[in-house]
Amino acid sequence: MDKNQKIIHLIAAARPNFMKIAPLYHELKIRPWADPRIIHTGQHYDHNMSDAFFLDLDMPQPHIHLGVGGGSHAEQTGKVMMAYERVVLEQRPDLVVVVGDVNATLACSLAVTKVTLEPPLEIKGEKWRRPVLAHLEAGLRSFDLEMPEEINRMVTDTLADVLWTPSADGDMHLRREGVADDRIVRVGNIMIDSFEMMRERIMSEAVVDALGLEPGKYGVATLHRPSNVDSAGVLSGLCDVLQRVSKDYKIVFPIHPRTRQRLLDFGLMVALERNPSICLLEPQNYIRFMGLVANSRFVLTDSGGIQEETTYLGIPCLTLRENTERPITISEGTNQLCNADNVEDKLNQVLSASFSEPRLLELWDGRTACRVADSIANLLF
Ligand code: UD1
Repeated sequence: MDKNQKIIHLIAAARPNFMKIAPLYHELKIRPWADPRIIHTGQHYDHNMSDAFFLDLDMPQPHIHLGVGGGSHAEQTGKVMMAYERVVLEQRPDLVVVVGDVNATLACSLAVTKVTLEPPLEIKGEKWRRPVLAHLEAGLRSFDLEMPEEINRMVTDTLADVLWTPSADGDMHLRREGVADDRIVRVGNIMIDSFEMMRERIMSEAVVDALGLEPGKYGVATLHRPSNVDSAGVLSGLCDVLQRVSKDYKIVFPIHPRTRQRLLDFGLMVALERNPSICLLEPQNYIRFMGLVANSRFVLTDSGGIQEETTYLGIPCLTLRENTERPITISEGTNQLCNADNVEDKLNQVLSASFSEPRLLELWDGRTACRVADSIANLLF
């Protein structure tokens, strides 16, 4: 390693993180002053929840794999804190980037802000006893403290030295919480960088044909939130929704490991498997999944990121949740909140509305990684 280079840790843990760190990793690799290193905590460990994304997004193997795996929230958070603290003490990164709102984001933020480096780092002529902490995708709020992610977001935003926001609502939430303006930098939506980076491969992906689907004639469903899948009653209601909607449209349903387990536990899998109009798949890699979404007529989901990707692509999205930390996807995009009782009405409304267009949101332009790298340079030099 070049002594003049700054060590930058990019924390990856779970599926939604990988699309957020990939563009930043590639951008930092071409900046001569940066030595970016990927730290994988191991929260998601199946090939198709993790390695497949590294391959698709042209990322190297993680530089460090903490191998922490699953567990309760406290277990995951505690184990990551302990393992990552050791890595910080050994590698002495100048800056640590945490992304999104998963448990590792919280755990690494706590580990970084409580560590004591001896001797201290020197940044811009000042002594720093710990690395600089930066949060990418800061300021999002669902105002629902029953979501573990809301707690992760709030704590991380309280601790981080710099808060990179995707949109104006992020800045507003942080200001309301008393964050000083000089900690907030609006950089845009990094997931759009991943899409643009991979656009050609996504658009030429053959998955739609291979599954015998007709572009624009099918829906994509994803479900994984504990509030939707952990109770037999709620999950069975959502399975009924899929059965009903599948009378008019073929549905492609890549099943998250948590959801697969619950469908089996609650005896709901067989009825789905028997329906020829519902295509059950393993979790899909990034390019295949985005290929399915980009060619679909609509998406039914409880994911955060997919609300943004469908807004960008102009694909109607029905979000099976009571709230969203991404309201811009509703006010300026193609997203609507719904529940098992009203999803079909809402679907009919969006499908009979005039044709959706891709939305051009400010700074959702595929250049976010570049702005983040510039911001890092400002912080460190
Ligand atoms: C986590 C994130 C959530 C994100 C989601 C995307 C938190 C609090 N939640 O939820 O914000 O939207 O990832 O998927 O961090 N499992 C496997 N193989 C894997 C990964 C998970 O079998 O590769 C199993 C786990 O062992 C566990 C279940 O799936 O039983 C849930 O995994 P977990 O990482 O705890 O939470 P997610 O629901 O994936």
